[in-house]
Amino acid sequence: MALTTNDLSAVIEADRAHLWHHLIQHKPFETIDPRIIVEGRGMRVWDAKGKEHLDAVSGGVWTVNVGYGRESIANAVRDQLIRMNYFSNAAGSVPGSLFAERLISKMPGLSRVYYSNSGSEANEKAFKMVRQIAHRHHGGKKWKILYRERDYHGTTITALSAGGQPQRVMQYGPLTPGFVEVPHCLEYRKQWDVANYGERAADAIEEVILREGPDTIGALCLEPVTAGGGVIVPPDGYWERVQHICRKHDILLHIDEVVCGVGRTGTWFGYQHYGVKPDFVTMAKGVASGYAAISCTVTTEAVFDMFKDDPSDPLSYFRDISTFGGCASGPAAALENMRIIEDEGLLENTNAMSERLLDNLRALQEKHRVIGDVRGKGLFCGAELVADRVTKEPAEEKMVAAVVADCMAQGVIIGMTNRSLPGFNNTLCLSPALIATPDDIDAITHAIDKALVKVFH
Ligand SMILES: Cc1ncc(COP(=O)(O)O)c(C=O)c1O
Repeated sequence: MALTTNDLSAVIEADRAHLWHHLIQHKPFETIDPRIIVEGRGMRVWDAKGKEHLDAVSGGVWTVNVGYGRESIANAVRDQLIRMNYFSNAAGSVPGSLFAERLISKMPGLSRVYYSNSGSEANEKAFKMVRQIAHRHHGGKKWKILYRERDYHGTTITALSAGGQPQRVMQYGPLTPGFVEVPHCLEYRKQWDVANYGERAADAIEEVILREGPDTIGALCLEPVTAGGGVIVPPDGYWERVQHICRKHDILLHIDEVVCGVGRTGTWFGYQHYGVKPDFVTMAKGVASGYAAISCTVTTEAVFDMFKDDPSDPLSYFRDISTFGGCASGPAAALENMRIIEDEGLLENTNAMSERLLDNLRALQEKHRVIGDVRGKGLFCGAELVADRVTKEPAEEKMVAAVVADCMAQGVIIGMTNRSLPGFNNTLCLSPALIATPDDIDAITHAIDKALVKVFH
């Protein structure tokens, strides 16, 4: 049943006249209505026409981890805003301190939290720290930052400079110098014919380090599981070798948990599946599930200490600010978000529902030759569509988009790799909220099944 019955035609007209939406070509809106989402409850959202949708992508971009309509988060934010809404984070705040402590309790080995507002910004902070460490502690060396083909770290010019998805980057140059690409690790799209693929893909990083010169490289920035680049779960052996290579060459390891962080993959953080010890962890989307804008750059005491070693030097500390990093609604929402995940056992649910989702997708793979590969971790899964299973020629992007559109018409919102890799925007992406039930999971894969029949048979 639709929750919204009000006439929203004035809203639609205002949108059409004045709004510039993210990530979308607007020409079609001259003749069709833009989509406006009006209300959400649990796993479901309603649009301006009152149509109900099951959301399998947590707000489109894997964000609303605890689901919609959480009054307890709204109340926590409301109470905090009335008491104290904002003060520059040069001073502390009550929820800022308490959330930092809670967060660090989930991240052994790390100890300092720097607040800002978006994933891009959290990553930029880490990049700036690496650059300042290079200036102050390496005599100007170790200033380059490695990133991986297919990974994404954000939308600002410098975050795009660390972007391994060419279609995101094209036409936005010139970029920031000093960012160097390493090969991706997707075994389905093999670049080496070896048995120990994970180790080989990690060794490819070392080859880049040796080519560039280890004394020029300050950090390696990786997603634990690549998100928008095709839901890539690293092969066995990859992370252990990556850690070893970073230690060997004195390179700081920066893990971008903007998507995977705070439960998405069934552990608090994606890197915790692999036993690695990062020097930086950045996070954003799931930190407060979209109830407030908050991102965190988390680091070790060893990194932190490098910024307070010489208080007599006025340039020695981290001279950075994010105005809204002082907004108290973010950590207030994040505290309650974390309580919900713990008290409702959402990590356990994520792991149970992940198995069901992957099983369902594998069953679809048996039925539909167009599904070439199924992969995922936690409630973060992908199905790569191919025109030919033997050659692995990618399915045409417009056909993949037709599957997404058909699911939408059925009232199920799924995603796909989008303006990411030329010729390879062919992976369906699923990231339902961590509260998903078995019925929700079955409804998602049932819709995909019907859409695949319609589009490909
Ligand atoms: C892995 C990853 N890092 C960083 C970002 C950038 O986050 P934001 O859009 O909040 O700047 C994204 C956004 O999708 C992401 O997927």
